[in-house]
Amino acid sequence: MIKIDCSRILDFVPQSDIKALEPVVKESILKLENGTGAGNDFIGWVDLASKMDKGLIADIRETAQVLRSNCEVVVVAGIGGSYLGSRAVIEALSNSFTQLIQDKKNPQILFAGHNISEDYLYELTQYLKDRKFGVINISKSGTTTETALAFRLLKKQCEQQRGKDVARKVIVAITDAKRGAARVCADKEGYRSFIIPDNVGGRFSVLTPVGLLPIAIAGFDIEKLVQGAADMEKMTASSTPFDQNPAAQYAAARNALYRSGKKIEILVNFQPKLHYLSEWWKQLYGESEGKENKGIFPASVDFSTDLHSMGQWIQEGERSIFETVISVDKVQHSMLVPADEENLDGLNFLAGKHVDEVNKMAELGTQLAHVDGGVPNIRITIPELSEYWIGQLIYMFEKGCGISGYVLGVNPFNQPGVEAYKKNMFALLNKPGYEEESKAILARIKK
Ligand code: PA5
Repeated sequence: MIKIDCSRILDFVPQSDIKALEPVVKESILKLENGTGAGNDFIGWVDLASKMDKGLIADIRETAQVLRSNCEVVVVAGIGGSYLGSRAVIEALSNSFTQLIQDKKNPQILFAGHNISEDYLYELTQYLKDRKFGVINISKSGTTTETALAFRLLKKQCEQQRGKDVARKVIVAITDAKRGAARVCADKEGYRSFIIPDNVGGRFSVLTPVGLLPIAIAGFDIEKLVQGAADMEKMTASSTPFDQNPAAQYAAARNALYRSGKKIEILVNFQPKLHYLSEWWKQLYGESEGKENKGIFPASVDFSTDLHSMGQWIQEGERSIFETVISVDKVQHSMLVPADEENLDGLNFLAGKHVDEVNKMAELGTQLAHVDGGVPNIRITIPELSEYWIGQLIYMFEKGCGISGYVLGVNPFNQPGVEAYKKNMFALLNKPGYEEESKAILARIKK
């Protein structure tokens, strides 16, 4: 299983502080299992993996095949939880370079609808010009501006390039069963569509069609991903003893650190393929915990790259941080450092070693240096980057997040603060229905 090692936080918080959280952690797990905590109408993700409908997996695979056979490129339009999960998994499992270009076997997966950049959208539409592309329009609410705007452009382009009939075949909607513009459009146009369950919030939706369809289109085994999550579901259930439950350990460790003044958690990887896993994790924890003036600030770095940019701050800056390192045990490929007769670069001391051995020593050396510098270190070890282990990791983080939120004393499943910018943006853009807000905001700007 995925292992979690909290031994290198014990110089900063005593074991007794972690142990003291055991009752509240247990209570939080029971709240998630029994649906008795805050936000209990959004805990459908808790047993989603173990209850996965085989028919749904078959439908997703069938739809994925239609897009795989008819598209060179598939654009996933979505923002937040509607794209980060699939992007995290696809990037973790893909060859680092074949996603940049089209490979022969799998369609290239691109992402849109997660920004409002004119340049991004222009360049994307230019790139798609001579390519056979399809679109997955993902929005639980069906009304998110960023996604709707990108989808409007992509739908038009797809219809113009490929004709209405083919477009209908290669555009898929993943949205609410009844509500929202994305549902209205899908029903009117006759798109294939999937439903995002009512009781699963965006950032917990990677194991619904939101994540599974793009991942299947990219050529990965979604059943193994779900199996990994289902096994972790068992491992993190209330029946597992506290010290053997990785999600409980993680939640307790980070809350103990938070209470001791460590307000920032940095998720660290030593594999660039995990960059988007960190982006997914940041949304998961940031949106779930950052409320009521509370919450650990989730940050991330890619090492060793960022040791040459953020390393100084982490080693010697304000001591308000702790690190959680995702360590990948076994890499996918084998490459040795070659010997060189002239040894001009002085690297012959590494000759014959695996590149990964150098990386692992960088990892260990960094961990020790940061602990010496006053940065507590949690280490999560994942055996390798495969569907199954990524499934375990995803679920471990989801469960850890639900538990942590309850330990912190917030509702981890809402995001009331996200509305504030939208209200101002709509008022500034004169959206119908926002007349009062428009007047108020214009008066405020003029002052
Ligand atoms: O976790 C969440 O609920 C959010 O981050 C949403 O995923 C995000 O705002 C996108 O919303 P929607 O899927 O409704 O377009």
